[in-house]
Amino acid sequence: MENFLTPAVEIAREAGNLLCELFDRPHQISYKRPLDLVTEADRRSEALITGRLRQQFPGHSIVAEEGGGHKGDSDYCWYVDPLDGTTNFAHHFPIFCVSLGLAFRNEVIAGVICDPTRQELYTAERGSGSFCNGKRLRVSKTDDLSESLLATGFPPTSADHGLNLRYYFRFTQLSHGVRRAGSAALDLCSVAAGRFEGFWELKLNPWDKAAGVLMVTEAGGRVTDLTGSPFMLLGDEIFASNGLVHEAMLQVFSDVMAQKR
Ligand code: IPD
Ligand code: CA
Ligand code: CA
Repeated sequence: MENFLTPAVEIAREAGNLLCELFDRPHQISYKRPLDLVTEADRRSEALITGRLRQQFPGHSIVAEEGGGHKGDSDYCWYVDPLDGTTNFAHHFPIFCVSLGLAFRNEVIAGVICDPTRQELYTAERGSGSFCNGKRLRVSKTDDLSESLLATGFPPTSADHGLNLRYYFRFTQLSHGVRRAGSAALDLCSVAAGRFEGFWELKLNPWDKAAGVLMVTEAGGRVTDLTGSPFMLLGDEIFASNGLVHEAMLQVFSDVMAQKR
């Protein structure tokens, strides 16, 4: 495989440094929709990343959250989240990252996630494993839901959080707890790194999850939708786990859904 990772790592690092530089300054916050924030840092990071990707891979398509992408003429497409964790960033809460995922015909083949505040750089290539600062990642070996730490998120674009609050409630009773840290890409890295046993979210965009999904699968984890059907990059739902608690969690999703009816 062509080396896509080396330039992507450089670009993600550069964008991560930019975010750190801007972090302590007062932010210019505007709203894409009610509750859906965007800051000057999202836009500047995206401009940097898309400019560099265009130079490096002129034919590739780019889909970027703030609209700076373009349609190229190859089967390769970069999914760019220039700042995952915008709401945290806007409130000076230091949980955020840069996420770059490369798909070939809608299948993710390479990913980089830069967590600049912890100085953790996550990388993955399909078939070659996933790494944090060069150290191989492995999902956790915990096979008991009651001993698991889980994570979820609540998308700012969704009008109704009712169903996810039910899942949140039930899993809080059944596990060591459910974190809602505010960066889906970092949540997926934490599944890959064996910190969380499972993570789910009902409505994520491809730029939130492209790189993170590869981190998980290359670390030995499993990714599906909430019914256990194959994960689709362009679909809404995601459920990622260490594989060992996957069936138990699917059962809970199904039970909660049945009670709702
Ligand atoms: C958001 C974060 C958050 C998730 C939301 C995403 P953004 O991305 O990943 O954790 O719950 O659904 O939209 O807007 O900060 O890039
Ligand atoms: Ca995001
Ligand atoms: Ca974002």
